[in-house]
Amino acid sequence: MTNNYEPPSIPTDVPTSARAYGWMLGGKDNFDIDRRFLLDLLPAFPECVDIARQNRLFLYRAVRFLAEEAGIRQFIDMGCGLPTDNNVHQVAQAFSPDCRVVYVDIDPIVLAHGRALLASNHNTTVITADMRDQQDILKRPEVDQLIDFSEPVAVLFLSVVHHLADDDDPRRVLRTIIDRAVPGSYLALSQVVTDDPQRGAEMTARINASGIPWRTRQPADIDALLDGLEVVEPGLLDIQRWRPDPDQPSLQPTDPALVPYVGATNRGKGIYEYGGVVRKP
Ligand SMILES: C[S@@+](CC[C@H](N)C(=O)[O-])C[C@H]1O[C@@H](n2cnc3c(N)ncnc32)[C@H](O)[C@@H]1O
Repeated sequence: MTNNYEPPSIPTDVPTSARAYGWMLGGKDNFDIDRRFLLDLLPAFPECVDIARQNRLFLYRAVRFLAEEAGIRQFIDMGCGLPTDNNVHQVAQAFSPDCRVVYVDIDPIVLAHGRALLASNHNTTVITADMRDQQDILKRPEVDQLIDFSEPVAVLFLSVVHHLADDDDPRRVLRTIIDRAVPGSYLALSQVVTDDPQRGAEMTARINASGIPWRTRQPADIDALLDGLEVVEPGLLDIQRWRPDPDQPSLQPTDPALVPYVGATNRGKGIYEYGGVVRKP
């Protein structure tokens, strides 16, 4: 951790993804504007609460696989979100205490809260950066200090690919590091998708209108970004079905205001989080 820290300015007049997502996970670090954004969106897209919570459970299972089974010891977590229970370093270090993690997020509130959580953990750091500028991230001294590119690395893009517009060239963003990493490196990713293009377009327009960059895609759009990489079993799919584990640690309780939306993904309106883990051969 560097010591020349200045408190960031936190916008409270626009919603942010980190704070809105954190609220759906049961977190408290959000503002009225974030809660109103979601309460306006949810009647049309009630699946969002389930999707957020299913994604966070997927994060635990994916990181556990990477640390425990795949032998990964270094992680770069793009769009890491606000700290909550079972953050990436806590899951990875539970299986191997020497795991190193660089957290990256565009929202300065993540840095503010992450520093407090990580103050005593020398194998972990958090930086404010835009994942669309992968070259900037690679030049950061924190990355240089913690990541050894002569060893396998796991790059996580969990529930963040939908924050990339087509014009951002998601393929370039996702693959800059994995394509230069050594064989045996991994990419774990997830993104909100639908098989109904009209509903996807409506969701994209609604969320972009709030000021949060967003693009709902179809599963095939994601598959097309990953050619040449080996898909880890059980494949790329609805992340609820990625190595489900009824005994994994649970999340914080859902805020009472969001409880009416719990279970909406089971009602079959076709929006879900798609993803998985791929390996560089
Ligand atoms: C839905 S949350 C996902 C958090 C975490 N990855 C997880 O799976 O639990 C999306 C996060 O991506 C961050 N984000 C969005 N666009 C970003 C960008 N261009 N660069 C870095 N972070 C970004 C947001 O600030 C937010 O914290």
